[in-house]
Amino acid sequence: MGRKLHIEIFRYNPLDPDSRPHMQDFHLEETRSMTLFIALTQIRETSDPSLQFDFCCRAGICGSCGMVINGRPGLACHTQTEGLPDHIILQPLPFFKLVGDLSVDTGVWFRQTWAKLGSWIHTSKTFESKAEEERMSNTLANEIFELDRCIECGCCVAACGTALMREDFIGAASINRLARFYMDPRDERTAEDFYEVIGNDAGVFGCMGLLACEDVCPKRIPLQDQLGIMRRMAALESVKGIVPKAVRKMLTKKCCHEK
Ligand code: SF4
Ligand code: SF4
Ligand code: FES
Repeated sequence: MGRKLHIEIFRYNPLDPDSRPHMQDFHLEETRSMTLFIALTQIRETSDPSLQFDFCCRAGICGSCGMVINGRPGLACHTQTEGLPDHIILQPLPFFKLVGDLSVDTGVWFRQTWAKLGSWIHTSKTFESKAEEERMSNTLANEIFELDRCIECGCCVAACGTALMREDFIGAASINRLARFYMDPRDERTAEDFYEVIGNDAGVFGCMGLLACEDVCPKRIPLQDQLGIMRRMAALESVKGIVPKAVRKMLTKKCCHEK
């Protein structure tokens, strides 16, 4: 027989004027290889069909099941109950718009933020459908792919002290996303162009560097490295008028992605 789990879940429906934020207790028996996704589905099927939470892939790919699990943002589908104490507290990710209970809208925030940051390859070249594809080294392609693995779950933003204090902070996922384009030789933007976008307190200079973002990232993306690279790039840009160009170029090549 499995453990008796006591699952305490945040409940609130912003669309219901009679709804008030509160915690609700549920009890169920743990089964083998039970994930939080399975536990929540069981609660919804046997105790309360009105419970709201998101899922799609159940495989850590779609990024929709992020929630705060015993105080720490994580993916419900990737979290097994056996790794948790028998009292589990589930809350929605902070920072994002609450849809209801454990469901938040990360999609609108990511779409708006990435549109604001110009999160695509900027090139003056016209697309030729019959032209041979542009080559890049395997090493560089792999480095870009490493950063492209972000599933937009929002856990890094929900764990970020700066994001919780200022809602215009772009978060580690966005800095990682821009680092991916900064690294990409097809993107014609210069360091100055990137500086214009993230060289401020809502960007890299707002980051306190305590790295909760990397700690909670379920895809283990090297956010620390990307934050460092983009911060140094922005810092060097900000002293453009003071430090000679040759010195800046040397430092840029030493510590940032070469462009
Ligand atoms: S290191 Fe920066 S982006 Fe990451 S959680 Fe801390 S303040 Fe937020
Ligand atoms: S960087 Fe990691 S934690 Fe942040 S949104 Fe992407 S996958 Fe999620
Ligand atoms: S359901 Fe897709 S990441 Fe959890």
